Amino acid sequence: MLFDYIRYRFKSKNEHGVHSPFVYDLLTTVIYNNTEYYAYKEVEELRLDLSRKNTVLKCVDLGAGSYLGKTNSRTIKQLLHYSVKPPKYSKLMFRLVDRFQPKELLELGTSLGITSAYLSKASPSSHLFTIEGCNEIASVARENFEKLNLQNITQVEGVFDTCLPEVLNKMKQLDFVFFDGNHRKQATLNYFNACLPKAHDSSVFVFDDIYWSTEMKEAWSEIKTNPKVSVTIDLFFMGLVFFRKDQTKEHFVLKF
Ligand SMILES: C[S@@+](CC[C@H](N)C(=O)[O-])C[C@H]1O[C@@H](n2cnc3c(N)ncnc32)[C@H](O)[C@@H]1O
Repeated sequence: MLFDYIRYRFKSKNEHGVHSPFVYDLLTTVIYNNTEYYAYKEVEELRLDLSRKNTVLKCVDLGAGSYLGKTNSRTIKQLLHYSVKPPKYSKLMFRLVDRFQPKELLELGTSLGITSAYLSKASPSSHLFTIEGCNEIASVARENFEKLNLQNITQVEGVFDTCLPEVLNKMKQLDFVFFDGNHRKQATLNYFNACLPKAHDSSVFVFDDIYWSTEMKEAWSEIKTNPKVSVTIDLFFMGLVFFRKDQTKEHFVLKF
């Protein structure tokens, strides 16, 4: 990852190297937006609270993506540190949802519910389905949603392979999807392909950890070549995918 990161730092551009009006606007008003939104404080207070918790949760190993080795118990504090998106990225998710105002959102991998909370708060009139395979983690997320009084979230407990088709049946369209669990090539591509029929011109798909492994790099390359995909933005720790039909197919690597 270090070598990839150095290459990314050299290759990535800021707003001065971007000619697409859509991407320029997204970069300057959303990605590089430093406004401290009202919602940040509340969710970050919850994060701080969780960072002090040594409660041990039994976790099932459901897919690649854990930095914690082979043990299947984690403290809440450890989960927060190793599995949950850091503030910089969950705040970006907030701003993306705030900007595009998706109505139907899906998150694969709830964990403790920090990013779900950001997604939910960015668009209270929307609906978020979030799937988590580990029951003990999901119940902490449930408590967190209650604490923040988030009413627009449906939590689904179970493995993606089983739950994703059921959830997709309940959703008319996919306006925003965050793929953040099971970082294996085939699994990632399977989830992407399962979601694709419900994507539309204004949908936004976000993939986490696109450089996490060779498999994830291959999955990201394949996603970029999909004919339905027009614009992609590589932010190194995250990849954004757009399906805008009027936009020339182009792949951006941008500093973040
Ligand atoms: C990286 S964490 C999600 C972090 C969360 N999106 C956030 O930023 O706050 C990934 C989660 O996905 C769950 N997961 C991984 N593979 C899964 C699978 N195949 N089915 C269901 N859940 C899975 C893990 O238990 C873990 O809690």
